[in-house]
Amino acid sequence: MQLFLASMFKPQLLRQLACATRAQAPRSSFQASRPVVASLRQFSNSPCRFERDPSKVDAATTSGEPGESGDHEGQYARTDDSVRVEYPEEDDLPPSQPIQGRGGVHFKRTLASFSLEGRVGVVTGGARGLGLVMAQALVSSGANVAIVDMNREEAQRSAQGLIEVYKEENPGTQNAPKVTAHYCDVSSPTSVNQSLADILKEHGKVDNLVTSAGFTENYSAVTYPYDRMQKLWGVNVDGTYLYAVAVAKHLMERNAPGSIVMIGSMSGAIVNVPQPQAPYNAAKAAVRHLASSLAVEWAHAGIRVNCISPGYMLTALTKKILDDNPELQRQWTSLIPVGKMGRPEDLMGAVTFLSSDASLYVTGADLRVDGAYTCT
Ligand SMILES: NC(=O)c1ccc[n+]([C@@H]2O[C@H](COP(=O)([O-])OP(=O)(O)OC[C@H]3O[C@@H](n4cnc5c(N)ncnc54)[C@H](O)[C@@H]3O)[C@@H](O)[C@H]2O)c1
Repeated sequence: MQLFLASMFKPQLLRQLACATRAQAPRSSFQASRPVVASLRQFSNSPCRFERDPSKVDAATTSGEPGESGDHEGQYARTDDSVRVEYPEEDDLPPSQPIQGRGGVHFKRTLASFSLEGRVGVVTGGARGLGLVMAQALVSSGANVAIVDMNREEAQRSAQGLIEVYKEENPGTQNAPKVTAHYCDVSSPTSVNQSLADILKEHGKVDNLVTSAGFTENYSAVTYPYDRMQKLWGVNVDGTYLYAVAVAKHLMERNAPGSIVMIGSMSGAIVNVPQPQAPYNAAKAAVRHLASSLAVEWAHAGIRVNCISPGYMLTALTKKILDDNPELQRQWTSLIPVGKMGRPEDLMGAVTFLSSDASLYVTGADLRVDGAYTCT
């Protein structure tokens, strides 16, 4: 009974304990780049429930504009229909660049099982952003890579950029990697099959797939245009499924093992605030569970399927949005325990690990790269 009561009232006890100890105890000894207090979820700075006027507590727990009832717990733990993150037009975005200084010859000892020497990897959405950096991770680890994207010109430029950076960082290299670009709308089965046929013509085989093609947008659920919602799920969910199935069929025909890494998001496990984006969150939850389900279904064929769930990453796109919305940047960052957003290159190790033999017994996993966002 005592145990039952203790677990029943645990959240309240924890809040009271937090109030009692807040002044003296830092949350952890972790060395954050910002003061630890700045990285706490903001509601922990508001007074505890029992210290406050009960009528205000009631106001705080019914619907209303965030912040309208003053500081209170949960103030930031809700979406705000008035927040609409406007994504920049394509022409308004600076192009993504390969990372410098990551792929050169080095003599630091590391496990040979991380090498992708002799492999061919496909990266959907690889023309820019996270996809481009993950494509670079595969190239730096020894793979030949096919970039697949709806944006033909940018894919071509990025493929060329990857080869140039590789040559710059490996002067005198005899075996520059082969990096090709292929048009595909991943939400179309015909386009997926055509692009894979094209890749097989150029590379002869595929061993690895990373599905990074995806997008997000913000509407409140009651105003979300139905056709846009279908498009969002079409690219994020159908696109991931269609490319994974096409590559798995090819691997099964070759009787070869392989590794598929699906790019989900922490949004598949939590609800981002303040911007409303229910269909995106649901799509990313679907991607995560698709990875688990296909890992089980294809385990017999030696095809591993894992998911990487990034937190807020500072790509050209998010940087542009946040430069225009400093308040949003402040809110997002205040919810990340490590106190800063991730860099695209923070995914390089994760994708190499899951693509390589270093993770041979890892399948169906979700690797969160989110600065501990989803732990709080
Ligand atoms: N940036 C972040 O903070 C973040 C966080 C978590 C998850 N993610 C996920 O990571 C992935 C990449 O995000 P990003 O920030 O690099 O985005 P991005 O917009 O910079 O890049 C996405 C790429 O996908 C391509 N693409 C879009 N629709 C396509 C389609 N139908 N067919 C083929 N290609 C298509 C685009 O042309 C673009 O090159 C997405 O799935 C996104 O949901 C991003």
